[in-house]
Amino acid sequence: MAKSRRTRRFRRFWISLPARSQRPARIDGTPPTLTRPAKDAEKARRIDRGRRMKRNLMVIGIGAGNPEYVTVQAVKALNKVSVFFIPNKGQDKADLHHLRREICDRYIEGSNYRLVDFDIPERAKDGVYATDVAAWRAEVRAIYERLIVEELGAGEIGGFLIWGDPSLYDGTMGILDAITAAGQVELEYEVIPGISSVSALAARHKVALNRIGKSFTVMSGRQLSQGMPDDGGNVVVMLDSRDAFRDLDGDLEIYWGGYVGTEDELLVSGKLRDVAEDVARTRKDARARKGWLMDTYLLSRPSDDGE
Ligand SMILES: C[S@@+](CC[C@H](N)C(=O)[O-])C[C@H]1O[C@@H](n2cnc3c(N)ncnc32)[C@H](O)[C@@H]1O
Repeated sequence: MAKSRRTRRFRRFWISLPARSQRPARIDGTPPTLTRPAKDAEKARRIDRGRRMKRNLMVIGIGAGNPEYVTVQAVKALNKVSVFFIPNKGQDKADLHHLRREICDRYIEGSNYRLVDFDIPERAKDGVYATDVAAWRAEVRAIYERLIVEELGAGEIGGFLIWGDPSLYDGTMGILDAITAAGQVELEYEVIPGISSVSALAARHKVALNRIGKSFTVMSGRQLSQGMPDDGGNVVVMLDSRDAFRDLDGDLEIYWGGYVGTEDELLVSGKLRDVAEDVARTRKDARARKGWLMDTYLLSRPSDDGE
């Protein structure tokens, strides 16, 4: 049964101040409040102490949408974490935020953990792609560093709940490595794999990702719009905001899935020449209905060897 939210401890980081009795009393006998510079100095001391303390983190893959994609290993890891850092990615993705909370409610025994929400900034999209991404990553890195230093107490384990699998189109490990490399904060992290949207898509369509003896490529919609790889293998496409499948050879077979594994799951498959418009319309309608869409598709080449 889901635990009441009220029973959970939402403890913020505790600021260490001298006991009231140790602070000089005011003339009228009331204890003093700290002045702004004194508060800032105290905060700087606390952060400095925090930076020198070693932090332990878990990067936990939670699967790509179905709470039952959470593995036994992930459940064990969830139960070790004291503080979960939960990203807010705007109103549209409130569902994803909700699912992370649901996973904690469902799989963690007791209520001896807390959730710290944080906002993920929007990435600028008007400049050079690589420059915009680098600037955005630096901003996110600063946020993570602040969270780790200010929100994680001594002996506590911090947790990041990663959609799908942490190794696929996710920057968390890279950001933690960059924080370590910068040398300001000492941290160690463990990674728990998760069921990626790619595995979930293949399972729902009951299709193998690669053809026998061939490789397969995972790429973004942006890359696919430059053309298919010429190695003759299949292609899995993620992060496609532009219907990149539309201009391809109509003989290709597409296995498309939106919100795979969730209650809103949508699946379409067939030869591109027959279903490309259907997929494009389904994507457009889904975005209009929910405000956001996460979809992935496999493009399979026509078999030339009787497979
Ligand atoms: C930032 S990537 C994260 C991928 C994730 N780490 C994984 O293992 O699936 C987000 C992309 O993953 C794909 N995706 C994630 N969840 C999905 C789902 N439930 N159904 C279909 N595609 C999904 C979409 O292509 C989406 O644009």
